[in-house]
Amino acid sequence: MKTVDSPAEGLSFSAEETLSLGEALGRSLKPGDVVALKGSLGAGKTCFAKGIALGLGVREEVTSPSYTIISEYEGNCPFRHADLYRLKGIDEFALLGADELFDGSGVSVIEWPEKIPGALPPDSFLVEISIGEDGRRLIRQSGGPPK
Ligand SMILES: Nc1ncnc2c1ncn2[C@@H]1O[C@H](COP(=O)(O)OP(=O)(O)OP(=O)(O)O)[C@@H](O)[C@H]1O
Ligand SMILES: [Mg+2]
Repeated sequence: MKTVDSPAEGLSFSAEETLSLGEALGRSLKPGDVVALKGSLGAGKTCFAKGIALGLGVREEVTSPSYTIISEYEGNCPFRHADLYRLKGIDEFALLGADELFDGSGVSVIEWPEKIPGALPPDSFLVEISIGEDGRRLIRQSGGPPK
């Protein structure tokens, strides 16, 4: 995992703040960067991913890829957004054209990366969102894009 100071860590008290933290990260991402986005159901992963898309200049509306599993958008570079919650296994991942996620041509954000243990590029970085007692979100990054 890459490690640098992150522009996207912190506490979020609203969906807007989660979006803004994602946007801050998105502005610093470059083609080839892969973000593994962990957090429980409803933690705010898709919200954060929408922010990343904004930061990357994606104008199209980003929707949750729960059923399509992988969606692709055009921004300053290709933006690929995966939600692996419903993935049956690593074989299905290959069938979905997952190679593109990691081919270096764009930025990829993966919700539920736990579904593909070992398949993430070693230099991916990790963002974890957890929900506090009062509903606040704690967003932590254990890596970051190279400066
Ligand atoms: N800091 C926050 N405080 C309160 N609500 C928030 C916060 N951040 C995001 N949310 C809201 O939480 C809800 C769930 O967010 P989201 O769909 O992004 O979660 P998710 O982690 O992608 O869920 P899933 O596991 O189902 O994919 C949304 O309504 C979103 O607006
Ligand atoms: Mg989601």
